[in-house]
Amino acid sequence: MEIQFADRMQEFKEGIFTTLAKIKKQRLAEGKKCYDLSVGTPDFLPDAHVMEALTEASRDPQNYKYAISDTDELVAAVQGWYKNRYGVTLEADEIMSLYGSQEGLSRIGMVLCNPGDIVLTPNPGYPIFSMGPMLNGAKIVHYDLKEENGYLIDFDAIDPEIAKAAKAMVVSYPANPICRLAPKEFYTDLIAFAKKYNIVILHDNAYSEIVFDGKEGFSFLAMEGAKEVGIEFNSLSKGYNLTGARISFALGNRDIIREFQKLRSQIDYGIFKPVQAAAVAALTGPQDMVIRNRAEYQKRRDALCNGLSEIGWEGVWSEGTMFAWGPLPKGYTNSEQFVLDLIDKAGVFCVPGSVFGPLGEGYVRLAMVKTVDEIKEMVEDIAKSGIIQK
Ligand SMILES: Cc1ncc(COP(=O)(O)O)c(C=O)c1O
Repeated sequence: MEIQFADRMQEFKEGIFTTLAKIKKQRLAEGKKCYDLSVGTPDFLPDAHVMEALTEASRDPQNYKYAISDTDELVAAVQGWYKNRYGVTLEADEIMSLYGSQEGLSRIGMVLCNPGDIVLTPNPGYPIFSMGPMLNGAKIVHYDLKEENGYLIDFDAIDPEIAKAAKAMVVSYPANPICRLAPKEFYTDLIAFAKKYNIVILHDNAYSEIVFDGKEGFSFLAMEGAKEVGIEFNSLSKGYNLTGARISFALGNRDIIREFQKLRSQIDYGIFKPVQAAAVAALTGPQDMVIRNRAEYQKRRDALCNGLSEIGWEGVWSEGTMFAWGPLPKGYTNSEQFVLDLIDKAGVFCVPGSVFGPLGEGYVRLAMVKTVDEIKEMVEDIAKSGIIQK
């Protein structure tokens, strides 16, 4: 039988991470060094009390039933988190859990868009921002994030006809992959833009806990009018290192949350209760781990970015997130070619900027998932490889 796949499958090529994983496997089999700075999986553990809460809950036979919904404890923990951390009051019907923000972003388009409706997404941007709504039948129109605008959205550059037709807009700071922050004033402009054109804002806040140089991350929902125009995705993957447990939240506008819950009630039966218990422990327990992580990421940022600059690779930087972003070193214009050469010559794996949209070409993203000592050794190996021309 010849299987006829859906036309949409033609949109997918082998992902870059699969390609890189194959190269890594081959190199390791040959006994060659690999510094893998490609995927953004934290190498830090959740706090011991969080793992303990998960373990204990996993011993309760009742917890192997379908969870169906969020426990009252989880909803209360999220309310406390948003109040204490961000100064935002949330009612229970303004909160829902997700199997990761990734999963939420891959489905929210189904709630908001009819086929062909426009969703505005960042270029460069984290792939699911465009891929999710596109899989849900929306038409993606990019807005540009350019260095000369401080990587903020230039609202005047968005065609008013496109803005009038747009249904939703995905916005995310601290931004992956460009590693830049947005000031609070930016969000005032964003909310005004959303109201003017009747556009739902989908704000992804995966990295509010990983910002550097004494700055403080915040929530979009803390801005006046935010709940009227949209929702925020927030994740326990990066701030609390519960990455593989898959628990995140959509929060804010209660009409959107209600419809999203209605959709998800057809698809899933709730988050595994031990994972919910771990989230409660993370959000209600001591918060010093969040501060420790942030400090460690900043040390890594300094070792990586200053180290690369000292060996002649200028411009790689990060104001926040667990990544650093920068232009290709001299002599390169094609990011994929550079990534392959960097692996070949120095054993360093990173992600070509082109993966994040056309404006990402000419750049690379490095995940800060190695210790300071490993990063220093890696920078030395890059210097020795001769790939950086001064
Ligand atoms: C900007 C951004 N949003 C969302 C995610 C995914 O988060 P989650 O683990 O909650 O699905 C990531 C993961 O790297 C990310 O970088």
